[in-house]
Amino acid sequence: MAGSDWTCSLSAMHEWESQDYEPSLPVSEKSNPLTRDIDRASAKCIVRMLQACDAQMFQEETGATYQRLLGERVVETVVEVAKRVQLVLKDPQDSLVVLSGCGTSGRMAFLITSAFNRALRELNQSSVYSYIIAGGDRALLSSQEAPEDDPKLGMLSLKKACEGKKRVLFIGISCGLSAPFVAGQLDFCLQHPEVYTPVLVGFNPAHQARDEPMPGCTFTFRSVVQRMQELAKSQKAFLINPAVGPEAISGSSRMKGGSATKILLEVVLSAAHAATFTNTPVTHKGILQHMRAYEKTLDKTYAQTDGITALLEAAGQSLLCGRRVCYMGWGSLALLGLIDASECIPTFGADYEDVRGFVSGGYKELNNNEGPLISLGPDFCIAHEDFLHLILPSLNDQDIVLLVYTHSDDVSEVAELARRVREKTSNLHAIYHRVDGDTAAAVQQEDFNKLCLSSLKITWPSPASESLLHMQWELSTKLLLNAVSTGAHVLKGKIYQNHMIDVQVTNSKLYCRATRLLRKLSGCPESQCEEALLKAIYEVDELTVGITSCDITTHTLTARNRSKVVPLALVCLLTGCSLVEAESRLEQQPIFSGGTSSTMLVCVM
Ligand code: F6P
Repeated sequence: MAGSDWTCSLSAMHEWESQDYEPSLPVSEKSNPLTRDIDRASAKCIVRMLQACDAQMFQEETGATYQRLLGERVVETVVEVAKRVQLVLKDPQDSLVVLSGCGTSGRMAFLITSAFNRALRELNQSSVYSYIIAGGDRALLSSQEAPEDDPKLGMLSLKKACEGKKRVLFIGISCGLSAPFVAGQLDFCLQHPEVYTPVLVGFNPAHQARDEPMPGCTFTFRSVVQRMQELAKSQKAFLINPAVGPEAISGSSRMKGGSATKILLEVVLSAAHAATFTNTPVTHKGILQHMRAYEKTLDKTYAQTDGITALLEAAGQSLLCGRRVCYMGWGSLALLGLIDASECIPTFGADYEDVRGFVSGGYKELNNNEGPLISLGPDFCIAHEDFLHLILPSLNDQDIVLLVYTHSDDVSEVAELARRVREKTSNLHAIYHRVDGDTAAAVQQEDFNKLCLSSLKITWPSPASESLLHMQWELSTKLLLNAVSTGAHVLKGKIYQNHMIDVQVTNSKLYCRATRLLRKLSGCPESQCEEALLKAIYEVDELTVGITSCDITTHTLTARNRSKVVPLALVCLLTGCSLVEAESRLEQQPIFSGGTSSTMLVCVM
């Protein structure tokens, strides 16, 4: 069915909200009924499915089970938090607004604080925003999942970032209300209310916050949330946690989780800036209007179904041939390219060469806390010059290069790069944002179009505010790149139904997700699935007491150096064979790559 046509029924749109739908899982971990068949869908259907999933972010609250982005309570809290930011902006001396998170949540924290500090600089104001990402700046460009499990590390990094500050508004982001790193920071804020006001942003209802014990802690994420709920009554803490529906690829919070984080926090900070610098009070109506502008951004972006489909097919084709996808970007849109590319490694088990992002200006444009990270290795070389030296010479027509820019970038520089790329590959495409009525750019673009195989051009109405337009471009680009990289990996056969089977088991959340997945796909009891997982991690056919007595942290640290542990465990569970045999079966027939995964699941059985 999904191969030819796909329409989204109203019941599928809302099915996840039923109390009976995967009741043991929080919203952020549920599988989305809309994408159940995404692994067998055509490129066009994949785009439509992603569109329907993203649209769930803006579903109305009336009659809904969970509070939603546009719901009364969420908007009210956003108003209150914006007013707190306004207080800091009015009196920035000894004050700070800190945004912190793990993985995509930390990357969004970086992106947002960079943009709003830049806005302050342009107004000759001092910076008040700071970001923290678990694992440090290297996590902006690579997956660093072990530090996410460390509440003490979270607490210490917050303490360090706020040294000497008398007033701190701390915004902890954890899409699943689950990251111990963030829990440690929130707990620290609760213990020091004279300095810290904690805000939690996430996308599960409070009662679904993670309740597992954390090493060395007396609290869990849920108990921290409960303490915050109590304080929220007197506005000493704030929770912004609308449900946005399950992710298109189960648990992949880089998608809607990341987008909704960006939307919410940009709305908060924009309202605070407008109140402080243009005397526009923070109002319920204003907040709602800004959120609606993002909803329109979604519509405008996905109106380009054919263009997105073409990109997704081209990228999928490159990955299927074992070739590359390169995003060449300018300005902050390039950062979204860097982020999207780096997330393909943990999300799809991709090699770092598969999807790469490059930014004009390199680390100067990035302007991250720790400065250039080139010494960490070639995967941290991110400038266009690096691309020209390291990548371009080996490109051919099977590699796709995607230019990502706007009419405010130096279009002649874009054209120059395009010409150089065309000498090596004709597989050149563009994503271009422009403003209505910009005829000069339109003429320039005509010539440029001839160099590109496809050009996805989005024309935006002349803006009331430049900064809003820029934020819309960014969200639109994030949606487009997420669609391209997700769709391309689906076409490559990396997904079974709407699950990533070859999930890395590099932290406790992923360990639990892997065990659950094995249970779902094998039908075996949980204890047997965990045993199979451990055998694959430790590469043994029999578990010793030495192994079973270790904690999850040891298991996940060991798993860091292993590959394909979940597929191996699955083959063992389905066939009863030994690990060595499972390995050779996977080698002959990699179950979840290069074709329809469901038939391959049958193959290994
Ligand atoms: O552990 C990996 C990961 O799932 C990332 O993919 C994600 O961005 C990160 O954890 C953060 O998750 P959360 O926002 O739910 O804390």
